[in-house]
Amino acid sequence: MAVSRRRFLGTALAAGTFPAMVRSAGDIESLRAAPFVAQLAPEDYPATPVWAYEGRVPGPEIRVRQGERVIRRLVNDLPQPTTIHWHGVRLANGMDGVPDLTQSVIPPGETFDYDFEVPDAGTFWYHPHHRTWEQLARGLSGALIVEERRPPETDADITLVISDWRLAEDASLHESFGALHDRAHGGRIGNWVTVNGEGNWSRASRRNERLRLRLINTANGRILSLSLEGLAGRVVALDGMPLETPGVPGEIVLAPGQRVDLFLDVTAAEGGEATIRSRERDGTYVLAGFPVTGTARSAPLGPVDALPPNPVPALGDLAGARRATLAMEGGAMGRLEAALVDGARVPIREMAAQGLAWAMNGVASLPETPLLDVGLGETVHLAMANDTAWPHGMHLHGHHFREVRPGGAFGPLRDTLLVAPRSAAEIAFVADNPGDWLFHCHMVDHAASGMTTWIRVG
Ligand code: C2O
Ligand code: CU
Repeated sequence: MAVSRRRFLGTALAAGTFPAMVRSAGDIESLRAAPFVAQLAPEDYPATPVWAYEGRVPGPEIRVRQGERVIRRLVNDLPQPTTIHWHGVRLANGMDGVPDLTQSVIPPGETFDYDFEVPDAGTFWYHPHHRTWEQLARGLSGALIVEERRPPETDADITLVISDWRLAEDASLHESFGALHDRAHGGRIGNWVTVNGEGNWSRASRRNERLRLRLINTANGRILSLSLEGLAGRVVALDGMPLETPGVPGEIVLAPGQRVDLFLDVTAAEGGEATIRSRERDGTYVLAGFPVTGTARSAPLGPVDALPPNPVPALGDLAGARRATLAMEGGAMGRLEAALVDGARVPIREMAAQGLAWAMNGVASLPETPLLDVGLGETVHLAMANDTAWPHGMHLHGHHFREVRPGGAFGPLRDTLLVAPRSAAEIAFVADNPGDWLFHCHMVDHAASGMTTWIRVG
């Protein structure tokens, strides 16, 4: 099959750039969110006005050791309020960044100091949690990498932040943020995918070099289907949590918000190229290239071991678990007729006029009362029924869960689970982190149009 480099449709125009501005935030390292301009499209297109952390797309990679603290001052120089959510980190509730639930929004011109410990080693990320459907799509996201106390031997540790952009012909961001059509379908799906802010990301490699790759899907709505060529190895972690048994990577499906850690040896020949490919509706494209410019060693390193487990409480018998069900309804080709919005029954037509398209357990706004109110340390067993024509990537804050498969087997620890259209899925977790935690679809346009609820722990 012919695989071409990513191409871009549109008219070439002259490039323009604007200077970046830098401001120090005193003795606390800043994470300044502000308008910026990034060259996302190929060089013969203009640069794209975006919103960025510290004038970088993606934002600066934050790297700490397991058990250390992350301390960052969010400086809001955006034209609207914002917050930061630290996706996948089992942190203290007050640092979770959810407006109205765990903190107030940070108005333009103001700051907020985030300060929390990271209990787990793994691949995490950060993004706004206010108007996420706009702020994420405008470029606000970055990697948060927590290294193991003794990182396993590799030649390189490389983070690939994968972003999906909807660009207009002049390479500016298409202004259709929050469009009802997107909300009722698969979310804001873009037309240009970047890795670490580049359309043709590549890094030189050597034959038999061992790479640790950390892939993060930061898209609003795009589900990635990835495959490897000239790279062989193991999947060692999902959503920041080590697999008990590393798996052989086949097709790697990453829903918005999900991550995968891979330990891979470069098997492509010298002079060739190892690649990560993305299967999209209209073809398969090279997402990331590793041209092989030399040889690291005559044979690959030995087998890949499992990473040390993170301190997540073990799931026991579910017989005594607190049970709940979540009925997901709505969207295009759905059967939803009405839902509760701020306590009042609203027919679907009026819901649409308010930008709402979905309901969970019959409610289309953030419910007044939590889906579940559980004691600290209780086990939760949640059954989801997706009665919609769309997949949903369901994300839980503050905890990792396991899928409970038909027959009762547990899946790997995750913080985001893709639930297929017209299907059911069950998850279970030990609610060991006190506070109010969101549970929502990470197709962030869905989250804003009805697919957000919460649980209270402790
Ligand atoms: Cu990454 Cu509530 O989200
Ligand atoms: Cu969804």
